[in-house]
Amino acid sequence: MTDDFNGLTIALSKGRILDETLPLFEKTGIRPLEDMNKSRKLIFQSSDSNVRFLLLRASDVPTYVEHGVADIGVSGKDVLLEYAAAVYELIDLKIAKCRLMTAGVKGATLPSRRLRIATKYANVAREYFASCGQQVDIIKLYGSMELAPLVGLGDLIVDVVDTGNTLRANGLEPLDEICQVSSRLIANPISYKRKLSQLQPILDILEQAAS
Ligand code: ATP
Ligand code: PRP
Repeated sequence: MTDDFNGLTIALSKGRILDETLPLFEKTGIRPLEDMNKSRKLIFQSSDSNVRFLLLRASDVPTYVEHGVADIGVSGKDVLLEYAAAVYELIDLKIAKCRLMTAGVKGATLPSRRLRIATKYANVAREYFASCGQQVDIIKLYGSMELAPLVGLGDLIVDVVDTGNTLRANGLEPLDEICQVSSRLIANPISYKRKLSQLQPILDILEQAAS
């Protein structure tokens, strides 16, 4: 099926980012015509007939923007670091703030052998430990990382931490901070050039809303 929509397509993440992103777009005067949290749809028309939203898994947003099927999108810095998509990172929206950290079982002594790191951030973790001069084995997971060291799947995890409640509730402790995370407005490089006149007013308002 071909897609003959010629306006602006914006990729948004399901879940926690969405709740903080929609009020920002509301300031630009663009709002989805349906409740994106309640509908099972994946494409949403907006109050501006030239703008539509796609609702995606957080980790898929950079891929849609890189391929140009979405012109812009909102993605966590953690996801951008992990997937290294060829997109422009235009604005730090300063929402969904957290930190990428290493964590382990509270008070546990690490083994002297090569460490095993359970994480969905395989690339970030490998690069981080390499920058510390440590070779590690990565165990790729897709969620609930906190469980892994409790049952012996890995010595440490790499995950995002906000309040630290999830770590605490599972008897883990935060160790080293890898980087601060917030959500970023990203753009496809070709869309950015071709659609700049349509994009610029939106970018200006988002930039102001985020500062
Ligand atoms: P996926 O379904 O693609 O695996 P996910 O389950 O990680 O995504 P969310 O939990 O909604 O999706 O997280 C989306 C983004 O929100 C993350 O990429 C991160 O930038 C940010 N984030 C995740 N957890 C927190 C948190 N506890 N506090 C603040 N921001 C967070
Ligand atoms: C994220 C992350 C941690 C938790 C950290 O999970 O994977 O488990 O938030 O936040 P805290 O430090 O405030 O406890 P999320 O709630 O998004 O669940 P999911 O990754 O399993 O979808």
